[in-house]
Amino acid sequence: PSASDEHFAPSNIALCKYWGKRDQQLNLPVNASLSVSLGHLGTHTRLVPIDYPADEIWLNGEKLVPSAPFCQRISAFLDLFRNPDHCHFRVTTRNSIPTAAGLASSASGFAALALAVNDSFALQLSKEQLSVVARLGSGSACRSIFSGFVEWQMGHREDGLDSHALALQNRWPGLCIGLIKVDASVKATDSRSGMQRTVETAHLYQSWPLQAASDLQQLKQAITAQDFELLGRTAEHNALSMHATMLASWPPLVYWQPDSLKMMHKIWKLRQDGLPIYFTMDAGPNLKLLFESTSLEEVMRQFPDMEVIQPFGDV
Ligand code: DP6
Repeated sequence: PSASDEHFAPSNIALCKYWGKRDQQLNLPVNASLSVSLGHLGTHTRLVPIDYPADEIWLNGEKLVPSAPFCQRISAFLDLFRNPDHCHFRVTTRNSIPTAAGLASSASGFAALALAVNDSFALQLSKEQLSVVARLGSGSACRSIFSGFVEWQMGHREDGLDSHALALQNRWPGLCIGLIKVDASVKATDSRSGMQRTVETAHLYQSWPLQAASDLQQLKQAITAQDFELLGRTAEHNALSMHATMLASWPPLVYWQPDSLKMMHKIWKLRQDGLPIYFTMDAGPNLKLLFESTSLEEVMRQFPDMEVIQPFGDV
């Protein structure tokens, strides 16, 4: 391998969630999902081969201890491509995601790492192949190979080669995502073990694949028709249904904090008063608001601490 350039991959937010695996090792999902990539917000990563007998991992300018779970996941990912006895890397990775927004970075992190590996080992993989490779690091990373609206086709093969993302051609200028950070003093269960527990213990999970499949179709229809109301309500319903399966797990998985619920009530009230605004949530207490730029001013007034992202550029 040689030194790679610096590679970038965007963060993404799922409107139809990936929740549950049919294969733990390969990160093969139970259901297809759909996300929107966050433009310039994401991860920059560069790989440099080094002589030192272990990987050296730098995150946002700080050298991490090799025993950190983050480092072990990165090294395990690199092991897929190298002989770990002879080949080590300095991995320099930096997030342009506002840390205050509380967005996870494993999706953009593994997508950027897949791009850097492709460069360093001169693999010349296609985007679809890169998506398969990124998925091996973290499922949702397969969507971060693309920008705009992205669909992850679940695939059916046991080797996972048909389980990768694809970009949808539709754009939606004016679509806004507001990141609302709810203070999380309690450390949440990560998605990896959270989804595993849900699959193993929640009877309610049986209905999830059906719901996800129908939500995915509705979202694609909403995107084609630029029907914001349909997009918003389908995404919100999908997120709440996922959280319902989490609640039905044992021990229960409750990612919400009291302030998460307060925010939800505030959004439902605003909507009742005529403001077209919806939300989605992942495996954490933070809300991601969905609205259009025509409502930007009013939404900013209601949520002054919110970070706004326009995935298709400012309008
Ligand atoms: C709730 O991709 O982080 O954000 O494949 O185990 O790395 P692993 O899980 P991960 O799960 C993301 C779950 C989610 C929904 C989503 O992004 O689709």
